Amino acid sequence: MIKAKDSIYKINPYVGGESQEKEGQRLIKLSSNEGPYGPPPMAVEAMKHAADNMHRYPDGGCVALRQALAEKNDIDAEKIVCGAGSDELISLLCKAYAGVGDEVLYSRYGFLMYAISAMGAGATPVAAPEQDLCADVDALIAAVTENTKILFLANPNNPTGSYLKRDQILDLHARLPKTVLLVLDAAYTEYVEDPDFTDGHDLVALHDNIVVTRTFSKIYGMGGVRLGWMHAPSHVIDVMNRVRGPFNVSIEAQAAGIGALQDDAFVEKSLANNKKCRAMSVTALQEMGLKVYPSQGNFVLVDFETAEAAEAVRLHLKEEGIFVRQMPAYNLPTCLRVTIGTEEEMVLALAALKAYIIRND
Ligand SMILES: Cc1ncc(COP(=O)(O)O)c(C=O)c1O
Repeated sequence: MIKAKDSIYKINPYVGGESQEKEGQRLIKLSSNEGPYGPPPMAVEAMKHAADNMHRYPDGGCVALRQALAEKNDIDAEKIVCGAGSDELISLLCKAYAGVGDEVLYSRYGFLMYAISAMGAGATPVAAPEQDLCADVDALIAAVTENTKILFLANPNNPTGSYLKRDQILDLHARLPKTVLLVLDAAYTEYVEDPDFTDGHDLVALHDNIVVTRTFSKIYGMGGVRLGWMHAPSHVIDVMNRVRGPFNVSIEAQAAGIGALQDDAFVEKSLANNKKCRAMSVTALQEMGLKVYPSQGNFVLVDFETAEAAEAVRLHLKEEGIFVRQMPAYNLPTCLRVTIGTEEEMVLALAALKAYIIRND
């Protein structure tokens, strides 16, 4: 057998959220932090038109999409690179900036792809401790060494839902050596309600070592398309354009992205649903006596006290066609992560959970 680099075999492959339709049973998929309303109609329409041109290579520079993103976010189109999901951009950052002997830092319960991508690049992932499942600036700074090349911070974080406020981000950046790239992963930024939050875009213009990554997979409900983007200083954009594939974003994805950016009605509906159903779910779960971590994302993390209890709940819900995410991969085996679905889905899921808890009390 031809062997890959040793470090590759240390990677535990990413396992996505489960779902499996049983005949005659309604499927409620709350296991992958997807949007509950399907894709934006304007994205679907744009993609249908683009399909006629699938015999052509896409625009390798994503010019029209970058222009649309720049206008929407009031930033410079030249400081944007698009990718096949933000996962691709995270992995390319590791490939470009970290290698054998380098360290990639993230907080203990940070998004799994940081460690996976670091190891894929041959670098060493380093996890800094958290405080009550929230990133801790002091601990992150204490974990920086002369080998640290990148610090990934999901803000808000998946799977915990916690976030750092603008002041904390500024503090973190001020104390971080300028030789470390601070990557603010803003996959869930649209859902945040706290006015003291920053998505980080204004900081990219001010500092040479801050990068923001974004995705179309969450608020735009387009996870299946694989479309993400990054806002970064020119020198990082230059590097990314050297390491990415020449046509890394398909012609359909580019068109769908432009369509989605015009679909304000879809975004408003999704946000309103998330706000209402997240609050409703937290209240209902707390009334069941469960610990729920405060979340600014489109999901909540619920603690069932023991790994056995969490797994029993997960399996029971699965039997009823309701899929939630188990958390052993994050070393949070007593928890389940529940994505916020439509109001109807949440009412059904919460009722099923409540009935189970009452029966097993
Ligand atoms: C924090 C975070 N970053 C990035 C991603 C990856 O998103 P994409 O679908 O754009 O690759 C996810 C997906 O779950 C996520 O939770």
